This record gives sequence, structure tokens and C-alpha cells, in this order.
Amino acid sequence: MKGRPVLVTLSSAAVLAISAAGAAAQAPASPPPTFTADVAPILQRSCVTCHRAGEIAPMSLRTYDEVRPWARAIRMRVASREMPPWHLDRTIGIQQFKDDPSLSDQEIDTITRWVDAGAPEGNPADMPPQREFAAANAWQIGTPDLVIRFPAMPVPAEGPDMFGNLYADIPIDSDRYIKAIQTRSATQMSHRVVHHALSYAEDPALEAGGMAEDGGQFLVEYASGKNAEVYPDGSGVLLKAGQRARAAFHLHPIGLETAAEIELGIVLYPKGYVPTFTRWSRQLAQPTTPLDLPAGAITRSDGYTILHKAARIIAFQPHMHNLGVRQCLELIYPTSGTRTTTEVVNCANFNNNWHLTYNYADDAQPLVPAGTILHNISWHDNRPTNPRATDPKNWVGDGQRTIDEMGFFWIGWIELTEEEYKQQLAERKSRAAGAPAGTTAQR
Ligand code: HEC
Repeated sequence: MKGRPVLVTLSSAAVLAISAAGAAAQAPASPPPTFTADVAPILQRSCVTCHRAGEIAPMSLRTYDEVRPWARAIRMRVASREMPPWHLDRTIGIQQFKDDPSLSDQEIDTITRWVDAGAPEGNPADMPPQREFAAANAWQIGTPDLVIRFPAMPVPAEGPDMFGNLYADIPIDSDRYIKAIQTRSATQMSHRVVHHALSYAEDPALEAGGMAEDGGQFLVEYASGKNAEVYPDGSGVLLKAGQRARAAFHLHPIGLETAAEIELGIVLYPKGYVPTFTRWSRQLAQPTTPLDLPAGAITRSDGYTILHKAARIIAFQPHMHNLGVRQCLELIYPTSGTRTTTEVVNCANFNNNWHLTYNYADDAQPLVPAGTILHNISWHDNRPTNPRATDPKNWVGDGQRTIDEMGFFWIGWIELTEEEYKQQLAERKSRAAGAPAGTTAQR
């Protein structure tokens, strides 16, 4: 820009336009991004958790030789934000999450420009060391106090994805609180076929595949790249004596006959210890009327759950089936006088291939007063233009099968007393003092 001080007085848009035109006319364009210096660090952060040998993704993306043949496909999938899987609407609500693998606009731009420039390797000396991962089936929670092993589930070499439930006893004789929990596959082969598994503790009287009225106690989700959960100090999840464990699985044949062998490792708080905070995780805000999804239409459904105690919301996970396309979590705050205040916390586009949990960053976890209503707004698309609509000529309703529909959310939260609520709110406000007012729901 030397020798062109006049530009300083122009608007930044004009600067960009002029400097771009100037660059094209005379100066050689700035060198394109290279794999080793610019792209590999992005793939290491956001892709190789799944895209490496033995993981769920179809190909490894660790080295230049592995990545080069996929350059075009990568460009397409990142530009459309299909990869990495992270379906939150980035224009609404809270955007601070734990383990958010999504790419910034700038990272997408880097990848796009790299591919358009012919996907050059660059200087091998720029290549960052490969990211290290714990062995696929190592316990990340230390030595578990309890290991609950589900019966092995045979998986044929070929065939459609498999969905279902496995059951196992929970060997405890008194109520205990969980400090940390992890699902793992007992074998490397099993690791490759388990697409995801959700585990629950529930009343054994439930019929097979049935859902507890309140959804049972959700324990942990298993999906590649994210499997251990250690609760914050002083908080835990209640495991009741006499409950049984259920793993709801989604398995994926891999061309070899094998078996899914899923186990749950649990670190318990000492007997008799009651944590200050109980972490709840439940299916909430079921639609107020059974889903009624006419052929060829988009249908909105609404559900509501009132929180009778103040709460700190920790996680949001939409749950729908093939027709589900979008879901929002809105808070309806208790009214003072005639005024009702609402706030959309998040909206997520939905794709039934991915059941993603959005875990709020500590300082972004919504703190809500007693009486707040969680409002679920779900959209189902039963039109032929929805590639996942299997039979858009027919009506679809509620049900357990994959071809039936659902539309609720899992919410993870910690209950607070009035005292705790006020204290946490004050702490949050003093930490945020000086920072620009954000979208963190807090009142
Ligand atoms: C949570 C696991 C996960 C993460 C993280 C992830 N992927 Fe994927 N990826 C998959 C799976 C599983 C598939 C195959 C299913 C599909 O195509 O959706 C896939 C498919 C793809 C495909 C299509 C392959 C084909 O056969 O055409 C591309 C390209 C891709 N991923 C690139 C990326 C890139 C680039 C990133 C990081 C920016 C990334 N993925 C992050 C799991 C993941």
C-alpha cells in the first residue's frame, strides 16, 4: 500500500475494491494458502477426531497425500458447513460452546482459496506435528469404579444401519452419584461400527424399547470425538439402586462381520456423598399435541416445560427423526405484571444422521429464574424436496420407529436454590462487567 496514502481516507469497502483491482493489474497476488502452513492446522483441530484410521469417517485426513485426492470434496463440504457436523444457526443466540469444532468464515475462506489455487503442499517444514489421541478404547476418566457391559450385538458385513436398545444391570446396592462417565467400545472393531450410542438409567419395569414417562435419567452420549464426561466439582448425576442401564444404539455395517461391544465406565462419588448440585438431563417440552405431519408440507410444533426452580442450563440437544429440519429453544421468563419477555437461546438445523449435543461454555450457560418456561419450536419437512423424507405422499405421526417422528429436546441443567441463583448471577455480572453485552441469556 506504500505510495497510496489517499486510500486511507476511503471507506474500507472502497479500499478493498481498489486494492483488489490494483493487485490484479500489477502486483503478483499474495501467495495462496498451503497445506502445511495453513490447512493442516485447521484439519487437525476440526476434522481428524473423526477423519483418521479406525474412526467413523470414511477417510483419513492427516497427511498431504491423504488429503489431496479429497480437496474438491472438502471444499464443497466445508463451504456448505456440512463438515464438521455442527448445525447451530450461527446468527441466533449463544455461540460459546465447549468443544466447538466448527470453522470460522476465515478458515472456510482459507480452505476455499487453497483448493482454488490447486491445493499446493507448501514447505514440509511448516507441517505441524500430528495431533496425538488416546488409544481409541482407553478410559479417559481414570479407573472406573463400575464397568457396565452391554451384551454383544452382532453386526453383519452389509446392510442398512441398525437402531435399537441393549440392556444391562447396574450393580449398586444404594443410590450413588456419578462424578464422571464414559462409553467405550471394548474392541477396535466395535469402535468402528458404533455410530453413536446414548445411555440411560431407567426403571427395569419398562417394556423393551419403551420410554420412561420422564425419559429416564440420561447418562451419556457416545459419538466419535466426544465420549467422556466429567461433571464440574460439586455436581453429579444420581444413579438409583435398582435401575437398569439402557444403551440406544445406531450401528453402521463396515463390510466385515463383527459385533458391537459397548461398555459404560463410571467413576462414583463416595457412598453417602450428596453433591451440592445435581445435574439433570431429560427429554423436555414434548409437543403439546401429538405430531400431525401432513404429506407435502412443513409443519411447526410447539412444546413447553416449566422449570419450577432456578436453573443453570448446560446443554441443548434437539431430538427429531428423518423429517426434522430445525428446532429452537426459547425461554419464556416469568411475567412481572403484564410483561412477558422471551429470548431465543439457540436454533439448530437438524439432520437425523447426527445427534449433536451443544454444551454451553461455562460463562455462557443460561442462568434462569424459577418459573422460566422452556419453549420448544420444531419444524418437520414432509415434502419431496427433503431428501430424508422417505414417503412424502403420506401423513406421518409420533412414534418410536425411525419412520415415525419425534420433536423434543434433551436439556442438561443444574437446579439452583434462590440463593445460589442470585449469587451465580451476581458473579456472572461482575465477570462480564466491561465486556460488551452479549447474547448470554441471564436475568
Ligand atoms: C464428528 C465426526 C466428523 C468430523 C469432526 C468431520 N467429519 Fe467429515 N465425515 C464424517 C462422516 C461420518 C462422514 C461420512 C458420512 C457423510 O458423508 O456425512 C464424513 C464425510 C466427509 C466428506 C465426504 C466424503 C465422501 O465420501 O464424499 C468430506 C469431504 C468430509 N467429511 C470432510 C471433512 C472435513 C474437511 C472436516 C473438518 C473441517 C470434517 N469432515 C469433520 C465425520 C466427521
